[in-house]
Amino acid sequence: MNNRADVPVIAIDGPGGSGKGTISTRLAEHLGWHFLDSGALYRLTALAVMKAGLPLDDEAALGAAADGLNIRFETGKGGVKALLDGEDVSTRLRGEEVGIIASKIAATPAVRAALVKRQRRFRKLPGLVADGRDMGTVIFPDANLKIYLTASAEIRAQRRYKQLKEKGESVNLSRLLGEIKARDLRDQSRSIAPLKPADDAVMIDSTLLSIEEVLKQVINMV
Ligand code: C5P
Repeated sequence: MNNRADVPVIAIDGPGGSGKGTISTRLAEHLGWHFLDSGALYRLTALAVMKAGLPLDDEAALGAAADGLNIRFETGKGGVKALLDGEDVSTRLRGEEVGIIASKIAATPAVRAALVKRQRRFRKLPGLVADGRDMGTVIFPDANLKIYLTASAEIRAQRRYKQLKEKGESVNLSRLLGEIKARDLRDQSRSIAPLKPADDAVMIDSTLLSIEEVLKQVINMV
């Protein structure tokens, strides 16, 4: 078995809506590397917590839920499917409510501790592109390249608005902006693994850039 430390990692961190999900997926495809969507693990934990009706202030119960997650990712023609207890929850996972609960439970130390090993297991040859909030700071501090992708809250809200509209959901732009700002604040101000760039991260502001432009910059760095 290879030593995990020998497997290259590219860490892409930043707030929701900065484009890091798309950039990370496309980069992993381009390189033929594995991909870790760490936000999906927090969202799956949130769904498990909601399903079990656990109170969000019961740290031990939340930690146990994260530890005992029964999940699977299946890659098929339509992309990656996420299964919780054998049920396909890919669509539900992306909903706003699940994102909000995910960000609340992500501030719980026992939840974060339970997910560390699960995330590190994704580090396999030929390499890993890891997308999240603390990939470069906590989970893979020895990553070969760390990128911190950001964009103004206004543009992130507009992007999210467009995505939801295209899916036929009824949304309100100013409410979305408020939720994005509240989530940023929660992610940045938690005491454990807060959202912040690693000291050695390359900063990219995508406010005025297209996905293609950002991807080109990242590929040049790789
Ligand atoms: O990226 P995504 O919106 O799917 O993440 C949902 C929530 O999970 C984030 O708001 C954040 O609170 C949490 N998260 C985290 N650390 C990560 C990835 C996600 O705390 N590495």
